Amino acid sequence: MTRLTGKTCIVTGGGRGIGAAIAAAFAREGAQVVVTDKDAESAERVAKEIGGDHQRLDVASEDDWRSLAAAWPQCDTLVNNAGITGFEEAMRPHDPENASLEDWRAVHAVNLDGTFLGCRYAIGAMRGKGAGSIINISSRSGLVGIPAAAAYASSKAAVRNHTKSVALYCAEQGLNIRCNSIHPAAILTPMWDPMLGDGPEREARVAAFVADTPLRRFGAPEEVAALAVLLASDEAAYMTGAELNIDGGLLAGSAATPEQG
Ligand SMILES: NC(=O)c1ccc[n+]([C@@H]2O[C@H](COP(=O)([O-])OP(=O)(O)OC[C@H]3O[C@@H](n4cnc5c(N)ncnc54)[C@H](O)[C@@H]3O)[C@@H](O)[C@H]2O)c1
Repeated sequence: MTRLTGKTCIVTGGGRGIGAAIAAAFAREGAQVVVTDKDAESAERVAKEIGGDHQRLDVASEDDWRSLAAAWPQCDTLVNNAGITGFEEAMRPHDPENASLEDWRAVHAVNLDGTFLGCRYAIGAMRGKGAGSIINISSRSGLVGIPAAAAYASSKAAVRNHTKSVALYCAEQGLNIRCNSIHPAAILTPMWDPMLGDGPEREARVAAFVADTPLRRFGAPEEVAALAVLLASDEAAYMTGAELNIDGGLLAGSAATPEQG
């Protein structure tokens, strides 16, 4: 368990869910981990659990990134994990006809602006060594249209493309800074709570959500974390600008896939 020994790894949105699992996996692999989150308390709690450092960071705030750069001017890995669906506060319409401009912008501010600011910080923080790994958590929703969550899908598609711009830019600069995107689908975290509820209907909703997933289950945050460990490690030295799906096989097929050969 020493694949990340000697590396400083920063995770955004590390206070729970996928980010917390990535932070824990990095720590197990010997990294010095900085857990960041908009929710300072959860970042501190996770940092304590894994023996890491913590800092409050709202990824949409340029000032917060400046503070992070002051505290951590050098890093080896940044995981741009923080993200929102837009349904956290209330289940308002997010379809292309009825979504409000305010909600559209709020989702892009976190998912896209946050990732842009993170990549910009990371390039500077990795330039000294001339090497590093930036991991952007996009989504299956960045690869297909999602009518009921249009801003989320748009923001995640932009994250996918920005990942490739960053990868090419760093390569052009002669920097060994790799940038890749991970595209999860249906990973059981608190992000799903507004959609699944917590009443007796939760089990039925879980079953309905995974009915179209070839592996017929939700994924676990730890399964995404395993992929992040690979991308952060030197084993992935030849991977940049890549997009990795982790979705129980969902994107391998489509509505056009015949049920029987
Ligand atoms: N869970 C899934 O099924 C799934 C699928 C595809 C993609 N993703 C992506 O994975 C990432 C993590 O998702 P999750 O399921 O763990 O979500 P989650 O809601 O369980 O956790 C998100 C974390 O991000 C933090 N956060 C929210 N806004 C922030 C901000 N502005 N600045 C900093 N931190 C902020 C929250 O406080 C929370 O700790 C997200 O980018 C999400 O879009 C998740």
